[in-house]
Amino acid sequence: MNRQDIGVIGLGVMGRSLAVNLMNHGFTVAGYNRRREPAQALAREYPEKCIACATYQELVSQLNAPRVILMMVPAGAAVDDVIRELVPLLEKGDALIDGGNSFYEDTARRQQELAARGIDFFGTGVSGGEEGALKGPSIMPGGPREGYAKIQRFLETIAASKGGMPCCTYIGPEGAGHYVKMVHNGIEYADMQLLSECYLILAEGGRSNAAIADLFEKWNRTEVESFLVKISADILREKDDQSENDLIDMIRDAAGNKGTGRWTSIEALKQEYNASLLTAAYQARVMSNQTELRRKFHGVLPVCTDEGGLDAETIRRAYSLAKVIAYAQGFGLYHDASERNGWHLDLKAIASIFRAGCIIQARLLQDIMNAYEAEPELANLLEAKQFSTLLQENIGDLKKTVLWALAHNVPLPLFTNALIYVSQLSADSLGANMIQAQRDYFGAHTFERIDGEGHVHHEWGK
Ligand code: 6PG
Repeated sequence: MNRQDIGVIGLGVMGRSLAVNLMNHGFTVAGYNRRREPAQALAREYPEKCIACATYQELVSQLNAPRVILMMVPAGAAVDDVIRELVPLLEKGDALIDGGNSFYEDTARRQQELAARGIDFFGTGVSGGEEGALKGPSIMPGGPREGYAKIQRFLETIAASKGGMPCCTYIGPEGAGHYVKMVHNGIEYADMQLLSECYLILAEGGRSNAAIADLFEKWNRTEVESFLVKISADILREKDDQSENDLIDMIRDAAGNKGTGRWTSIEALKQEYNASLLTAAYQARVMSNQTELRRKFHGVLPVCTDEGGLDAETIRRAYSLAKVIAYAQGFGLYHDASERNGWHLDLKAIASIFRAGCIIQARLLQDIMNAYEAEPELANLLEAKQFSTLLQENIGDLKKTVLWALAHNVPLPLFTNALIYVSQLSADSLGANMIQAQRDYFGAHTFERIDGEGHVHHEWGK
């Protein structure tokens, strides 16, 4: 019997787009959705390539062993629910892919549980939104190395490509794929926030939306070129269809989130790794939603604009450096997590698959690849020659931008954090000797002397 190549469970926006992408690349699909209509609609649209299944039994029976099934269901309990019902129907050697934004520790647990039943489970990051899923996303599969061959042809065929290489590569064991996607989103939050701060400072300097769009388009012909800069320019040109205004001016100043940026911040704290820009980007969204509190304190520090504002090239150069710091913190998290967990993450390969398809695709990623090519075990990207040079050259612009914003009461949490990060790296002293002394004073926690080894206690004030 002629069976389907792959099963897709969950035909929401992302699931449906990935299913169509698979079919556009010649694969046949068995589709299942809890509410039946989306699967039936897909089968009607692609009668030659798609079969709508009403039950998991039917889906499983439509696939040849070893079966490959892609789940695109909301992260959390829904993933466990599908696994609970589906897995008893599967056989040893079958492969299950979770393409949602699952928490990587859940993925590691699920993978272990399914491995015990002989099923290969792949926690797989998929980035690129609806359009990416349809035309070629960036894909980050993590799971059992030996089973990867079963899913490789599907994922690497439908992924975006750059320079003839698919934007998909085996990431590592356990929850490594979802970890990499989580931090990708942390970087995504940071770059989005940096661009919103560029927009804010340019707008507070008296520029129109159209003028800022022009600037962003110009910027996109320089080293800061990225998908996010491009869409930010597009956004600023969009007209509202319900008023005479630009659409951007009709959107509430409060941003939500689905949790991956929060997870990145929590994980950075757990790893004791300073990813201050990624964390501040999440906090900036939280702060934007403190509407009542913001209303009460509105005007305490009134924004005082001056005609012309800060020159745009200074802001662009500050953005260029702050963005490198955000990526350096994100890739630093990868380096640290890889060492802690023994994942052997290939950071050059990760930079490579981010170059197309995903939300954080940017020209900068080629430089990041070059840095890891020269030094695969680089702990912090800022140490690479091209980035330490950029730091030297652009730090003055970053400082000027932050000082302008402080003087004019324009809140720029990410730019400010970027400057603080550099000043912490650069300073002679961070005052931590005082912290050591305080801890020893009130809690006998001991301290380290600059002229000796080990920890000592002092009887303070006695
Ligand atoms: C991607 C995105 C995507 C994410 C949305 C919403 O890489 O395609 O990261 O996976 O879910 O951008 O994220 P927030 O709602 O948390 O902003």
